[in-house]
Amino acid sequence: MLKIENITKTYNNGDVKTVALDGVSFEIEHGEFVSIMGPSGSGKSTLMHILGALDVPTSGKYVLNGKNVEAMSDDELADIRNKEIGFVFQAYNLLARTSALKNVALPMVYAGLSKKERVERAKEVLEAVGLKDKINNMPNQLSGGQKQRVAIARSLSMKPSIILADEPTGNLPTSQTHEIMDIFSKLNNEGHTIIIITHEEAVASRTKRVITLVDGKIQKDEEKK
Ligand SMILES: Nc1ncnc2c1ncn2[C@@H]1O[C@H](COP(=O)(O)OP(=O)(O)OP(=O)(O)O)[C@@H](O)[C@H]1O
Ligand SMILES: [Mg+2]
Repeated sequence: MLKIENITKTYNNGDVKTVALDGVSFEIEHGEFVSIMGPSGSGKSTLMHILGALDVPTSGKYVLNGKNVEAMSDDELADIRNKEIGFVFQAYNLLARTSALKNVALPMVYAGLSKKERVERAKEVLEAVGLKDKINNMPNQLSGGQKQRVAIARSLSMKPSIILADEPTGNLPTSQTHEIMDIFSKLNNEGHTIIIITHEEAVASRTKRVITLVDGKIQKDEEKK
């Protein structure tokens, strides 16, 4: 469903040139549960931005669900981001003074779904992440793990083909890290394709395949039995 081939990304700042990705290739099938690991500066966020259609590579090929992403216009990239990818960020990115339900429903407002449909689907995905009894809570009335579960529910609202999470447990204590990984495992068991960027071994060990980046290159790509 997703294939990158010989991706490179070079940043030019004045006369300083940084090669952030240097010939990265892999394929991810529907239903996989993958973590991308690597030390600071290894190119993880750069890769996540390319996979998430937030940025384009300097060279190489990216095919998502049969579509060539690397050659797309900004409008086409925006469309891919809205329809194909559910984003989860380290800082949750929830709207304050806005209930869990409304936070989750928001992407569906932009997509033009009816109010009835939005509320129904928001309740459904909030229930899927175990927050049925918190739908009217504001973000400041939720724990960090619960906030991240709202963000995961929001990422599911548009029925994306991939969930892409950048350091989703980076702000959480260990117990809540496991709570979030439990949710991702459950969603994966239900058929969702999940890619998690992390530098935490405890997070990577809960996924089924670990891709390790070092200096912009793949050092290891290991599938677990
Ligand atoms: N906008 C940019 N302009 C110039 N250089 C950049 C830019 N973004 C990233 N880089 C450089 O590209 C390399 C890879 O950065 P990237 O942010 O992808 O690493 P990372 O693996 O996500 O690191 P971390 O774990 O610290 O988040 C680094 O050397 C970084 O300094
Ligand atoms: Mg990063």
